[in-house]
Amino acid sequence: MKFSLSSQSQFSQRPPFRHRAPQRRFQAELWHLLNKALYSRGVTIHPGKAGPSTRGLGHLALFQGQIQLSLKCHTDQLYRSSMPLGDMRTPLLSDSFDAPEEPLPCDPGNPTVGILGSGDYSRSLAVRLIACGYRVVVGSRNPKHIATGLFPDGVQLLTQREAMVGTEKVVFAALYPEHYHTLVGLRDVLAGKVLVDVSNATRLNSGEPSNAERLAELFPESRVVKGFNVVSAWALQTGAHDGSRQVLISSDCPEAKRTVIQLARCMSFLAVDMGGLATSRHIEDAPLRLFPSWGGPLMVTFLLILFFYGYNFLRGVLMPYLSRGQNNFYQLPLETVNETLPAVALVILALVYLPGLWAAALQLVRGTKYSRFPGWLDHWMGRRKQLGLLSFLCAGLHAVYSMCLTLRRASQYRLLDAAYRQVKAGVEHSWEEPQAWRSDLYLSSGILGLGVLTLLAITSLPSVGNALNWREFTFVQSGLGYAALTLSIMHTLFFGWDFAFFSFAYPYYMPPTYLLALILPCLVLVGRLILALPCLAFRLAKIRRGWESPCHHPPQTHEDTANGVLPRDLSGDV
Ligand SMILES: Cc1cc2nc3c(=O)[nH]c(=O)nc-3n(C[C@H](O)[C@H](O)[C@H](O)COP(=O)(O)OP(=O)(O)OC[C@H]3O[C@@H](n4cnc5c(N)ncnc54)[C@H](O)[C@@H]3O)c2cc1C
Ligand code: HEM
Repeated sequence: MKFSLSSQSQFSQRPPFRHRAPQRRFQAELWHLLNKALYSRGVTIHPGKAGPSTRGLGHLALFQGQIQLSLKCHTDQLYRSSMPLGDMRTPLLSDSFDAPEEPLPCDPGNPTVGILGSGDYSRSLAVRLIACGYRVVVGSRNPKHIATGLFPDGVQLLTQREAMVGTEKVVFAALYPEHYHTLVGLRDVLAGKVLVDVSNATRLNSGEPSNAERLAELFPESRVVKGFNVVSAWALQTGAHDGSRQVLISSDCPEAKRTVIQLARCMSFLAVDMGGLATSRHIEDAPLRLFPSWGGPLMVTFLLILFFYGYNFLRGVLMPYLSRGQNNFYQLPLETVNETLPAVALVILALVYLPGLWAAALQLVRGTKYSRFPGWLDHWMGRRKQLGLLSFLCAGLHAVYSMCLTLRRASQYRLLDAAYRQVKAGVEHSWEEPQAWRSDLYLSSGILGLGVLTLLAITSLPSVGNALNWREFTFVQSGLGYAALTLSIMHTLFFGWDFAFFSFAYPYYMPPTYLLALILPCLVLVGRLILALPCLAFRLAKIRRGWESPCHHPPQTHEDTANGVLPRDLSGDV
């Protein structure tokens, strides 16, 4: 029987099952086959809430060639072995296949996984492993005391020793590290097995050996792997669809690490090999860190807010009060904030694009892309996303504040006062063409700037960014990013108009805030234009393709070539 996965309509003509049990078994086995076939191509698919849904299968058309072929013969066998003839009428994959809690039948090829401990995390691990078709044995000090129904059906609850005897290869140590010493009696049954430590540190940077290192000391004959501690019990239970999918894994035994990486992938997680067990200290600290990559950008934003708010307070509130007794303190909650936020947004946006220029200049001067950037520049470049999102936040808040400007009582009083003065002066028309242009221009460019920034923010979501290829992502982030910067600069310039050319714009010798905010963004834009000059742009493009200037890279000798040393730009280095 031929079996193609390329379209849903073909599926609906497929021989179906009437009884739910064989249908479910068939679906489960088919799902395993698909996973195996895809896994051999480096791809993992997730059963998700709806299990092997027709939508998921639609995606498989992408891999038609190999997978389709291998599935054809496997599914033939499955049909023959498990499908009663009368089951030919109902759809194979009904849309109602959506019972995530119902475990897949154990795959005979999957080894039995042991879990030491019967707490929350142990339960969540068991739920996930069972859902992925593994057999699970849980070892507890008092298995009889575990409430019925706490663990999913199919999990065997045994004593610790019995469980470890029944485990083939992988054991999760899901107990508090303080209790590790109680396990030493199991050394003989744990010898040679892969022992996964899932614990977290209790203190950041304690300087002491990690829990995993201590476990390895206690069980020298077992192969200890650190992993899964960055995944919450919640993410385990929901099947990695709601929560982080990354699992950091480390071990001194490459074979054991490979086993756990494979297990993590089968559980729909994204395994990241962190190296030897020494890195487990860092892995155990990871869940305790609070937004580790945001510290610098948040500090920069805070300092800029402090500076601009302080400057606006001095210039617009304190100095007028001290010199003329003018009371502008009412401006502090809204007007001053709405002068501060856009200035901060603009400067941060410039800080996002400045390191790229710096890097390009360094590459041009050095004549190579193979020299490392200084550490501070590397660090700065690595924080551009956070800086960009903070700029977006400030700009968004500024837009909302700006919408509310006219709703304020202060604006209404000012408008009334202006109208009264106009009437008193006998002026009938207050229309000023340039001012009408000015406000429309600055509002329009501001709105467009914020719109483009929103696009950037959306593509920075991993789910969206992952759907773009490198070129698309660079186009949005770099190309549209500069468009956003240009529009924001235009918005500010239109807002300022000719104000900066009058002496009253500099009370107490203090320039208007928008002028200060414009300095860095304008420098960045000019820098970018300079880099776009053909002579520099060509050289930079050549360098980024791997070319090196002869003064940086000594010409290769005949001996080099004879010894098989390739010029760098021919060696496929990117
Ligand atoms: C709202 C918002 C969201 C953002 N989200 C993200 C995000 O999710 N992820 C992210 O990374 N940034 C993000 N950013 C930051 C920013 O948009 C990107 O970092 C953007 O790519 C920077 O562009 P660039 O042209 O300055 O630098 P890049 O294009 O990154 O180039 C910088 C430097 O890298 C080097 N370089 C570039 N290409 C090559 C090459 N082929 N070979 C060797 N060296 C090369 C050069 O030295 C170059 O000057 C965001 C910004 C904002 C405002
Ligand atoms: C929907 C989008 C936006 C709207 C409606 C908007 C509106 C405004 C308004 C009404 C003002 C004048 C405020 C005042 O009178 O004090 C202003 C000023 C300003 N805007 Fe925007 N803006 C938007 C987006 C942006 C963006 C994206 C940026 C930059 C990232 C920006 C930067 C500035 C700056 C620097 C000023 C001058 C602040 C000052 O010195 O008073 N704006 N904007």
